[in-house]
Amino acid sequence: MRYTLMHKTIPVAAIEIDQVTNVISNVWELYRPEHLPVGVLRDNRPLKNSQFLNEWWLERTIPASRSGLREALALMGVHSTRVLLLKCFGLSLSDHYWVCPADGTLQWKDVNFFENEFSEDVGNALFGRTGGAEELNLMSPDNTSDGWLKKQWVIAEGKRMLLKGGSLPAYQEPFNEVIATAMLSRLKIPHTPYTLTWNGEQPLSVCEDFITTETELVSAWHVFETYKKPNHVSTYQHFLACCDTLGIPGMREHIDHMLVLDYLIANTDRHFNNFGMVRNAETLTWLGPSPIFDCGTSMWHDQFTAQIRPAFKIPSKPFRSEHNDQIGLASFDWLDFNALQGIDEEYGEILKDSSYIDDERRSTLCFALKTRIQLLKARIGTHLEGEQ
Ligand SMILES: Nc1ncnc2c1ncn2[C@@H]1O[C@H](COP(=O)(O)OP(=O)(O)OP(=O)(O)O)[C@@H](O)[C@H]1O
Ligand SMILES: [Mg+2]
Repeated sequence: MRYTLMHKTIPVAAIEIDQVTNVISNVWELYRPEHLPVGVLRDNRPLKNSQFLNEWWLERTIPASRSGLREALALMGVHSTRVLLLKCFGLSLSDHYWVCPADGTLQWKDVNFFENEFSEDVGNALFGRTGGAEELNLMSPDNTSDGWLKKQWVIAEGKRMLLKGGSLPAYQEPFNEVIATAMLSRLKIPHTPYTLTWNGEQPLSVCEDFITTETELVSAWHVFETYKKPNHVSTYQHFLACCDTLGIPGMREHIDHMLVLDYLIANTDRHFNNFGMVRNAETLTWLGPSPIFDCGTSMWHDQFTAQIRPAFKIPSKPFRSEHNDQIGLASFDWLDFNALQGIDEEYGEILKDSSYIDDERRSTLCFALKTRIQLLKARIGTHLEGEQ
């Protein structure tokens, strides 16, 4: 069936979406190549077929790794996440792309989730809840949400908010988001503030949509893919070169901030879709890095207490595989350790709210955070002495 790929109100391409597989099987006509999603055009080459556009399209589905996905699909009576993608016309709350049936009867102002209300049926199903309604309304921004943790967009007091769960053994991710928020705010680093809420016994993190009716999030991965990485160039250098070529301001400083935070909280999952940049969706002007988000996969969230060893090697992403190496890419002239004084005690207070975290784990985690700060301080001290 024919659709128009839309960027807000701008028709970008006439496309074919196969009604059985839901893939983009053809690009009939390209109207506005500059408005294609970032990363679809590689090395400034013209679009030869639908391959890269289809890859982008299918990346918009809920990932197969999403916790509880099979049960949620069963609750909704839907056989695949691709079906959900078309039910909401590919609309999301992180960018302004969508597909409009070619009869042209739909308009952005009537369908977008930034200005229109949406159903909570999909979000409820993703959390394993049924609303009891006979027929579910599947028009939801949850159909295009990324990431493996259970999550749901809701509207609270007119604001679009993302609720996100945690995972075994301690459901610690929401608490980690909150301590990362405290650290970032003390260090005066732009970030998405997270708070805590509860779904019965389950802790959830809550953050507000940092995207608006004017702006959109582009993942670092899509920027990284814009140009082919030469073999002799590191991922770090290539990424910054892509940002420079595209004219995205402030990325080096942003990466410094992110690498320091991730070292301190022992974040093991800062992959290229866990940070990004923001641009104006109409003018395509790059505004700069997105506020830091998704810091929950840290502080040994997936380890038993006995395995929490802050001075050991800790896996890192996205530029190096180990934090001790990755932190070597950062500069620290902006870093004020005094601002972090007592942060371990603040972490302890935050963790007290969890019935999944006992006293032993809590004190081990607080000690681990303090140790990471001391390790970085010592490392920077040695580095500076070496320079003199
Ligand atoms: N506050 C926000 N405003 C707009 N978009 C957001 C916001 N928070 C998250 N997103 C988008 O939703 C995606 C999924 O959210 P998030 O990364 O927090 O989930 P996750 O399950 O923790 O991911 P992962 O699998 O990387 O651990 C993000 O990659 C981003 O594209
Ligand atoms: Mg993520």
